[in-house]
Amino acid sequence: MVGSSGRPDETPTTGHEWDGITEFNNPLPRWWLWTFYATVLWAVAYWIAMPAWPLVEGYTRGLLGYSQRAVVAGQVADRDAMQARYVERIAAASLEEIAADPELLSFALAGGRSAYAVNCSQCHGSGAEGAVGYPNLNDDDWLWGGSLEAIAYTIRHGVRNESDESRYSEMPAYGRDGFLEPEQIVAVVRYVLSLSAGGDGPAAGEGADIFAEQCSICHGEDGRGSVDLGAPNLTDAIWLFGGDYESVLAQVQNSRGGVMPAWGERLPPETIKQLAIYVHALGGGT
Ligand code: HEC
Ligand code: HEC
Repeated sequence: MVGSSGRPDETPTTGHEWDGITEFNNPLPRWWLWTFYATVLWAVAYWIAMPAWPLVEGYTRGLLGYSQRAVVAGQVADRDAMQARYVERIAAASLEEIAADPELLSFALAGGRSAYAVNCSQCHGSGAEGAVGYPNLNDDDWLWGGSLEAIAYTIRHGVRNESDESRYSEMPAYGRDGFLEPEQIVAVVRYVLSLSAGGDGPAAGEGADIFAEQCSICHGEDGRGSVDLGAPNLTDAIWLFGGDYESVLAQVQNSRGGVMPAWGERLPPETIKQLAIYVHALGGGT
C-alpha cells in the first residue's frame, strides 16, 4: 500500500485515517522515555523528602523537615541579634551623642526611616512633604521647634492629644465665638496676608491694630510666631492650612488645631530617638 504522502508504507500506522491522512505509530524516543521515568521517580522522592501534600489539618512534612518559615525565623533572629547591639547603644546615648557618632547615626537614620514609613507617612506623606493641616517636615520651619530635643519631645508626647505632657495651645475661633465682628476679621485677614506678601511690607490701619491686640500674644508682634505655643510664623509664606484669602479667613473664623498622637505611648524609647534623628536630618534647625 502507498500512503497519501506517496511514501511506501513500511512504518506501522495507528489505523486512524482522516481524509486520507494517516498517523504513524512510532515508538517514543528512548531518551525521552527515560527522562520521563526519571522525573516520575524524582517527584516521588521529593514527596517523601520535602513538605508536599496538603492534609485535612496541616500537610505532609517530609523526612528532611525543611520549613521556609523556620528559615525566615532564623534569619530574623540573626538580624535581631545583630541590631540588639546598636539598639542598646542608642538606648544609652543622648541624642547629641548619637548624632556625633557616625556608626550610630547611620543606624539611627536607617531605623528612623523605616519607623517613619510605617507610623508617620499616612499623615506627613511618604516624603515627609506634609499636606493641609499636616506639617511638611523637610523645610526648616517648625511649629514646635526644630532642635533635636524639641523634635523628640513633639514625637514622644504629640500635639493636642489626651496625654498630660502633650504640646498644647488653642487659637480662639474669632468668628464662630463672636470675638471679632465680620469686618474686623476681614481687616485682620488682609493684614495677615500682607505680612508675607513682600512689596511695601505689612499694611497699616485697622487690621494691624487688631493683630497687635488679639493675635500678637501668640503669633508675636512681628507675626513671626512662637514655638512655645506652636503658633505658626505668618511672615514666611509657608502655610499649614493654606495662604489664600479663603484659607486664612477660615482659620481666623473657625480655628482648627492639628492633633498628633503621643508616640511615646506606642513606640519604644529607642525608636523615638531614631525618629527624632531622622526627622531632624530632614530639615532640622532651631
Ligand atoms: C494622625 C496623623 C499624624 C501622624 C500619624 C503623625 N503625625 Fe506628626 N503631626 C500631625 C499633625 C496634625 C501635626 C501638627 C500639629 C500642630 O498643628 O501643631 C504634627 C506635627 C508633627 C511634628 C512637629 C512639626 C513642627 O513643625 O513642629 C513632628 C516633628 C511630627 N509631627 C513628627 C511625626 C512623626 C515622627 C510621626 C510618626 C511617628 C508622626 N508625626 C505621625 C499629625 C500626625
Ligand atoms: C492663643 C494663641 C493664638 C492666638 C491668640 C491666635 N492664634 Fe492664630 N494660631 C495659633 C496656633 C496654635 C495656630 C496653629 C494651629 C495648628 O497648628 O493646628 C494658629 C494658626 C493660625 C493661622 C494659620 C497659619 C498657617 O500656617 O496656616 C492663621 C492665619 C492665624 N493663626 C491667624 C491668627 C490671627 C489673625 C489671630 C488674631 C485675630 C490669631 N491667629 C490669634 C494660635 C493663636
